[in-house]
Amino acid sequence: MSGADPLTRSAECLADAQRVVVLTGAGMSRESGVPTFRDALTGLWSRYDPMQLATPEAFAHDPSLVFDWYFERWRRARAASPHAGHDALVRLALRFERFTIITQNVDGLHQRAGSSEVIELHGSLEAFRCSDEGHPWDPSQFGASAGADHSTAVPVCDACGASIRPGVVWFGESLPDNAVRSAWASVEAADAVLVVGTSAIVYPAAELPLVAQRQGASVIEINPDRTPLSQVTTVAWVERAGAALPALVKRLEQTESK
Ligand code: OAD
Repeated sequence: MSGADPLTRSAECLADAQRVVVLTGAGMSRESGVPTFRDALTGLWSRYDPMQLATPEAFAHDPSLVFDWYFERWRRARAASPHAGHDALVRLALRFERFTIITQNVDGLHQRAGSSEVIELHGSLEAFRCSDEGHPWDPSQFGASAGADHSTAVPVCDACGASIRPGVVWFGESLPDNAVRSAWASVEAADAVLVVGTSAIVYPAAELPLVAQRQGASVIEINPDRTPLSQVTTVAWVERAGAALPALVKRLEQTESK
């Protein structure tokens, strides 16, 4: 593995890869203006700890507060746009036989950028559903005033009358079976894994790069900070997603055109 700089080493890892997996976390959406999970909550939410809001117990205790928080996050996600890093992943996908994005994010930005194979490990802000039968519920039908003062009466399902809940995995809940199966199958077959914008401390998602590495895949981490993964990855690229991913695509395209 030649070259000191992480861009060169990352391009070398991908040069002969055929099956690539990208694991993304909240840092991938940071440059779209969506705060990371562990950013201090802003404004009206600053007095709440997200770990206290993202649980079934919190919803049972104060459904309006939890519903408002997710409805606010849905509105912010809808107002956000994919950035150059999301666009770079769409272009990167064209270069490989298989290209799978496994995201811990719930904001839908990968899909809005045009990525087609996206596994949402932690659910989606777009997937509000009723808490009994799972009937889907469309948040865009809900009045704009909702969520402003955390006193919104939680809407109920037209079909069965149960409270509407976010389609996001809460702490203590299991991940969607099909997402887990697909995610594990993709890393078990991967030649290379890009880990972008995750603190790599929440399991089972944080296990995925290690599964890939154990079967021989190279692991490239893109993150402006170090994480528990940094010391075991093939390349620890200390950089923002919006800078690193476009540079990586450009380098691979340059190498190919030589
Ligand atoms: P975190 O907020 O824990 O970590 C965000 C990571 O992104 C940090 O390591 C930052 O250094 C990094 N970061 C910040 N800006 C970045 C940028 N511009 N480019 C690249 N990286 C950047 O968010 P997650 O790791 O996604 O789960 O959190 C994982 C899970 O913890 C979430 O999905 C959520 C929470 O429990 C559930 O809600 C089930």
